[in-house]
Amino acid sequence: MTINFTLNGKPVAIDAPANSPLLWAIRDDAGLTGTKFGCGIGLCGACTIHVEGRATRSCITTLGQVAGASITTIEGLDPNSNHPLQTAWIAIQVPQCGYCQSGQIMQAATLIADFPDPTDADIDAVMDGNLCRCMAYVRIRAAIKAAAATMRSVPHA
Ligand code: FES
Ligand code: FES
Repeated sequence: MTINFTLNGKPVAIDAPANSPLLWAIRDDAGLTGTKFGCGIGLCGACTIHVEGRATRSCITTLGQVAGASITTIEGLDPNSNHPLQTAWIAIQVPQCGYCQSGQIMQAATLIADFPDPTDADIDAVMDGNLCRCMAYVRIRAAIKAAAATMRSVPHA
């Protein structure tokens, strides 16, 4: 069947079974490979994208669940790849291997939307399910706080 949704602001039509994982439509059909496959069972966060602005695990979300929805991937977070989270990630040199980082940033965007001035406890609570095998957690926390400070001073569109 054909399932229609919006991907990074553009309409897309995917011809696939309704129970197909959204992750593979994003990576294989749309060719947006910034979203990663990690565990495939909703436990690592590497596949995190936004559905209607909320962090969502695309490996356990089916195409049928997102029919008509607005989806954003790391490629669409900012039109110039210049979101405060992305600039903070670069300034603090967060990534090591980088594999988890798209998911970390997409989860962090939801965190800052809910907690504009996040405490360590807020960050721990929201980011807990986004795993990093390279153990970049200290830098991730620092970058989230830096991005949140930037966004408080200059609200991001
Ligand atoms: S690949 Fe989706 S949560 Fe791990
Ligand atoms: S930077 Fe390597 S898994 Fe997170």
